[in-house]
Parts: sequence; structure tokens; C-alpha cells
Amino acid sequence: MKSCWSHVQKYAGDPILGVNVEFAKDPFPQKVNISVGSYKDENGKPYILKCVKKSLEKYVKDNVNHEYLPMGGLPEFCQNAIKLAYKSDFKYLNHIAAIQCLSGTGSLRIGQQFLSKFYPYKKKIFFSSPTWGNHYAIAEGAHLEICHYRYYDTKTRGIDFEGMVEDFQKMEKNSIVLFHACAHNPTGADLNHEQWEKILKIVIEKEFLPFFDMAYQGFASGDLDEDAYAVRLFANAGINMILAQSFAKNFGLYGERIGCLSFLTQSEEEKVAIQTNLEKLVRAEYSNPPKFGAIIVNNILSDEQLKKEWIEELRMMATRVKEMRIALKEKLKEVGSKLNWDSIVNQRGMFAYTGLSPEQCDRLKNEFHIYTIRTGRISIPGLNPSNVEYVAKAFHEVTKDQ
Ligand code: LMR
Repeated sequence: MKSCWSHVQKYAGDPILGVNVEFAKDPFPQKVNISVGSYKDENGKPYILKCVKKSLEKYVKDNVNHEYLPMGGLPEFCQNAIKLAYKSDFKYLNHIAAIQCLSGTGSLRIGQQFLSKFYPYKKKIFFSSPTWGNHYAIAEGAHLEICHYRYYDTKTRGIDFEGMVEDFQKMEKNSIVLFHACAHNPTGADLNHEQWEKILKIVIEKEFLPFFDMAYQGFASGDLDEDAYAVRLFANAGINMILAQSFAKNFGLYGERIGCLSFLTQSEEEKVAIQTNLEKLVRAEYSNPPKFGAIIVNNILSDEQLKKEWIEELRMMATRVKEMRIALKEKLKEVGSKLNWDSIVNQRGMFAYTGLSPEQCDRLKNEFHIYTIRTGRISIPGLNPSNVEYVAKAFHEVTKDQ
């Protein structure tokens, strides 16, 4: 019998998550994983936050049952999540529709499915060039047309602000624009306050719909308020906007898939209409979200002492990342590299966009067992005092003749 699947071709694998799989198979003892964005401690081990351990103890003590959550997830968690992003005294909190989602990806996915169904203007989404690879798959899945705006300047390894503004001026009214709230993935290049203010003016003038992806609140600067600057600036302008929050990185809850999707609307009625339709979308996708991550995060955000401890640990993680940026730059100099590596220190968040070519990345993997993303993106928290010199030497080796 002829199979009905004979036309299905093998999927080549994800350019980010696939590297993790390859890394796991490599038996080389000195191998280094600086590919996927996940924090590791100074011994290269996954880090479980102490506040998360305490929250887990409470979870066990509370004897949490295994009943379903509502379609929109744990309501207290959603309220705490939006307060963290928009600020607890934000004047339009009651205009925000919010549902618990499966981390950042799930939030982006449900949000874009909603846009695909309900957005009354062109179903076209503008991405920074470049952006996180998975943004493409998510928007394609929601049948949104993908367009780009200039963002990164490969020469300066910083923002091409002039190009960005020029592109924004050319974009049609009511365009949907995806922004990285902080710690831009993959470039680590963020707008400063003044630049955000200029962008907001255009957004208002052209009635764009901003869709913020905030996967790194607290991870870019070590300060939750600073990292929420753009989100709060836009929200305070009272415009419609959408926000996808992930708690994978800032709580170290990667595998628990915990996030929040929120829509800032113009009224309480509008909020209810959106909230209920988001819930309807969830019902068809997975009925209701898992409980565990929501309770773990909510225990922390609703307890003043635990929240304080979380903020300290978050700052500690962000500081270690900054120290590793400096260490890598210094080691590169020490091992004799004459290239300018300043951008490693100037960029923020988990990633540095090194400018390494795909071929240089392949050499790092094949000759030195150092795993990066082939775009030249490296995940700084994979570095530690024991491997940074080895990585610097390898970087120098593959770049010295360029
Ligand atoms: C990354 O960019 O490495 C992380 O956001 C993990 C992922 O899902 O791609």
C-alpha cells in the first residue's frame, strides 16, 4: 500500500534548539555551549533560583491539587505579571486583558492568532532586521505577512536608528510592529530612552499597533523597572498595545513554559471582549495552561520577602553576564586578537552578536567543540571563568586571518 506520508520531507531541525541536541551528543570533555539562551552558573551548570526552591517548598506544603486552571490561567498570576510589566500603580490596569500562556512563544502565538482573526487592518507584521528566528515560524503559523524594518548596523554593531526611523516613516498607517522590550535577541543592541521616545511619537502619529516581546525583564540591566522602560512609556501614552511576557529567563523556569499575554485596551468593555476571545482561542489550542509554573511564579510575586530575594538573584545573574562580557573581551586582547570586540561589552542581555561568519562558527564547532548559533550569536551565560580563555583562544584562531 502506498503511504499517505511519502511526500513528507525530513525537517532539518531548529537553528537554535537543534544546536543543543548536537551539543548533548558531543563526548569532548572541554566542549562549550554558547548557543541557546539559558543561564548557567559559574560552573556551567543550570541554575535553580533559591526563591524558586522556596516557592516549590510552599507548593508542596500547600498540597496543590491537580484540577484544571481556567482557560485564561491562574488569575492572580496574570495580575501579578501585568503589574510587574506595566507597574503596580499603572492607571489603566483595569483596561488590560491578560491570560497565562506557554512562555514567550505561546504568548506570541495566541496574540498573533488573535490578530489574524480580528485585526481590522492589513495583517502584516514588521520585524526588526534581524530578529529571533522563531518569530518567523510564529507569524507564518498565524498567517501574518512578514515585513522588516532596519534595526542593526553590522558595521557599528549597534542600532541603525536613522534607517529604523526612515523605514517607520515609510510604513503604512496601522501597521503591526514587533518590538523587543529589552535585551534584543539576537543582537543585544537596545534603543536608549531618547530613541524609544522618538519611536513612540511615530507609533502614535501613524497609529501603529506595537506588539512587545519581553522575554528578558531584569536580565538586560539587572533592574526590572529599567528593562520595562519602553513598555511603560508606550502604555502611559494610552495606546492599544500587546505584550508577550516570558518568565523562562528571569525565573530560570525554562522548561515550565510560563508566560503572560496581555492587551492594553481602551475600556473595560473592550478588555472583556478581548479577554473572552483570547480564552476561546486557548480552548481550541490546549484548553487551559499548566499550573505548576504559574503557582511557582505567583508565590514569589505575591510574597514581599520572596520577591525581594528574587530581585537580588536576578541582579546577580545579570551581573555575572556583564562580568563575562568583560572577561571575554579582555581575554581576546590577551590572546593577541587585534580585532575590535567592544560590542561584546556594549551589547546587553544574554546575547552578543559577534560578527562571526557561519563558516567561522562551523570551525568553532568542528575544531574546538564550541557551539554557537551560525548567525554569530553567542549566549554569554554559557561562559565562565574556567572556559572563557579557551573560547577566546578559539575565537582568535578562527578570526585572525580575516
Ligand atoms: C534563544 O533564543 O536561544 C532562546 O530564546 C531559546 C529559544 O527558544 O530559541
